[in-house]
Amino acid sequence: MYRPITETPVDESTPATHARGNPHHNESVNDNDSLWYKDAIIYQLHVKSYRDSNADGFGDFRGLLEKLDYIEQLGANTVWLLPFYPSPLRDDGYDISAYEEINPTYGSIDDFRALLEAAHDRHIRVITELVINHTSDQHPWFQRARRAPKDSPERNWYVWSDDPNKYAGTRIIFTDTEKSNWSWDPEAQQFYWHRFFSHQPDLNFDNPEVVEAVKNVMRFWLRMGVDGLRLDAIPYLIERDGTNCENLPETHQVLKDLRAALDAEFPNRIFLAEANQWPSDVRQYFGHSDECHMAFHFPVMPRMYMAIRKEDRTPVVDIMRQTPEIPEDCQWAIFLRNHDELTLEMVTDEERDYMYREYARDPRMRINVGIRRRLNPLMDGGRRQVELMNALLMSMPGTPIIYYGDEIGMGDNIYLGDRNGVRTPMQWSADRNAGFSEADTAALFSPLIVDPPYGYHTVNVGAQERVPTSLLRWMRRLINVRQEYKAFGRGTWEPVDAANRRVLVFIRRYRDELILCVNNLSRFAQYVELDLHALRGMVPLELWSKNCFPGIGDLPYLLTLGPHNFLWFRLMPPEQAKSYQRST
Ligand code: GLC
Repeated sequence: MYRPITETPVDESTPATHARGNPHHNESVNDNDSLWYKDAIIYQLHVKSYRDSNADGFGDFRGLLEKLDYIEQLGANTVWLLPFYPSPLRDDGYDISAYEEINPTYGSIDDFRALLEAAHDRHIRVITELVINHTSDQHPWFQRARRAPKDSPERNWYVWSDDPNKYAGTRIIFTDTEKSNWSWDPEAQQFYWHRFFSHQPDLNFDNPEVVEAVKNVMRFWLRMGVDGLRLDAIPYLIERDGTNCENLPETHQVLKDLRAALDAEFPNRIFLAEANQWPSDVRQYFGHSDECHMAFHFPVMPRMYMAIRKEDRTPVVDIMRQTPEIPEDCQWAIFLRNHDELTLEMVTDEERDYMYREYARDPRMRINVGIRRRLNPLMDGGRRQVELMNALLMSMPGTPIIYYGDEIGMGDNIYLGDRNGVRTPMQWSADRNAGFSEADTAALFSPLIVDPPYGYHTVNVGAQERVPTSLLRWMRRLINVRQEYKAFGRGTWEPVDAANRRVLVFIRRYRDELILCVNNLSRFAQYVELDLHALRGMVPLELWSKNCFPGIGDLPYLLTLGPHNFLWFRLMPPEQAKSYQRST
């Protein structure tokens, strides 16, 4: 991942593929492109929270379908849907009680098919969840297992023990609710293993029947046409004595097996690994291109927050230096926020204390090992800071994921339980129920965000559509600019050293595309002198304005930036740069 700057011969004969103006980039999606996920902009949402079409207070597939135009206009070309299967909803749907059905509150299988079709018509791909580490305790497989005799094949679908001290070296993930990874089942008269809530027993991946059953679930949704599967909580599939029960070789073997099943029948579909681990451990989830196509880069996420608050690029540069190369056809997924807490598992104790102190002063903002707040409140509503964070999201190596509502700067509600404060209804308008639902307000699945400054009366899509300077309209432009250049999705990431640590500088490089990104992490104006002599003769074309900046010479290249400013340049030979320059 990390490479020093070198001189790149620019291929001047390459025809200018660069589209001026406002290309409708979704049209450029090639449906047969096996690397489509490298050029994706992923928009993550919960069907329940997005739009309610039948006035029952819960969002549904038909509601989401109504809003596909909005998603397309934002510039997202992939939607990641949180779990929508039947569930007691004690973990917001990650506690699945039937894998091949749809929670009737959200619609029917036909509604889901209609959504898929409508999305595909717009060249929007759909990623769904494959939650296989555990099921709900209400799943018929678990009900059968607990009732079946000890050591019977049916019991063996889950992980049981008579001794709750087994696998004692395994950490607890939901530290606020769980005291042990074992719970007693009075019916079975044994303890069952669960890495998450006690109502989510872990499936036993040492049992080949379980692996086969999971493959069938996978095939069910892929046959319907989903384009990718997020593999939830994937490091924990297998347990072994004397280990921490994470990232075990046997777990990787299961993944290779699932991947082979995917490749055998479903070309161009992908796995996205949720492996909240250090970069060198996550690297294993790509395997030799025979496990997952994509994996979230968990450790870089909190470090972007650290860097902007410390006004120092070091946290980001350090973690990127520790990030190994990944196979050519694999890809990182970069995110700022998601439906969970902003996890602080992949930081040091000292860094965790710093994050809590700076971003979660009120204990209510904390949950488990993390912070349950949205991007805009984390940035104290600072527009410049929110823009800079989004610029990093769009320019760091990998595919960016936008969490629904963050594109309009939605707030959170730290008085709601669990992580529900960041899962409130989407704010469409200043109308009743934020345009989310026509139900009685009391019937909504969750309270709306109402208080200033993030309440829906002011923060909503309708208002931001009307104002050219709104965050939403700015986000659209940001995505548009990013999508003009393949280097952002496919290029290498090369840090550029500069004396001023308040400025984070890097180059993204893909074939003849060379993009220089300069980010001022400070709340004050800064200048930076860059040693770019290896690129002497090139002219920086600023990507938003299409203005040519002075050419790069032998002297250090000087740039000045206002507070939290960022600049993106394409570096080109002078004649080429001029041909792109906006005529003023
Ligand atoms: C994943 C999900 C999280 C869920 C957990 C247990 O980490 O992202 O929301 O609670 O799995 O299912």
